[in-house]
Amino acid sequence: MTQDELKTLVGQAALQYVVPGEIVGVGTGSTVNKFIDALATIKDQIKGAVSSSVASTERLQALGIPVFDSNEVAELSVYIDGADEIDGQGHMVKGGGAALTREKIVAAQSKRFVCIADESKRVEVLGKFPLPVEIIPMATERLVRQFAAMGGTASVRLKDGQTLVTDNGQHILDVTGLQITDPLAFEAQVSQWPGVVTVGVFAFQKASVCLLGTGEGVKTLEF
Ligand code: A5P
Repeated sequence: MTQDELKTLVGQAALQYVVPGEIVGVGTGSTVNKFIDALATIKDQIKGAVSSSVASTERLQALGIPVFDSNEVAELSVYIDGADEIDGQGHMVKGGGAALTREKIVAAQSKRFVCIADESKRVEVLGKFPLPVEIIPMATERLVRQFAAMGGTASVRLKDGQTLVTDNGQHILDVTGLQITDPLAFEAQVSQWPGVVTVGVFAFQKASVCLLGTGEGVKTLEF
């Protein structure tokens, strides 16, 4: 199966976690796009969605799924999102699509995080994928030096030759060369650095379930 077919498979498999009559939390990315397409087939059975990005909001609305502001909903039963990496405990690296801040906000208001990913995302230790960090632009050079002090190389993400600007009006640093052996400690530490809006390690908001698309079908990992 191609990677695209594996994404479709897990996107469809995630429907079983959607609670009828409720609002579902929706992430961002190419795997989530497959989930949104599948969600549209049962849209009459749900109240709507809370979305983690402008891109997902537009896709949901184009398919006739009502989108609620996260402030309108106290708690969500389930949040469904992809990942750039996931380890054996459900810790993830996210933010390849630059939506990490809103993703962490919606994940935090959800009881359960269902991660949908193809098997290429499963790693033993986080850090192979460049770590996304959303930052306040005036802190850029200081944060580049702080990551260098821990052995990482940080660069400002570009899009079409220009500095990428997130949905929140900020910038993204992508950090290579890290081995994140203690994701909870790492997330706690980097989140405190002045100028960091959100670090793309999801250890406090880790996955409870991962639907992993493999050549043999969907594997369900529970954490
Ligand atoms: C978006 O900012 C990310 O966190 C995505 O969830 C992650 O990059 C996975 O995206 P794909 O499903 O496109 O691989």
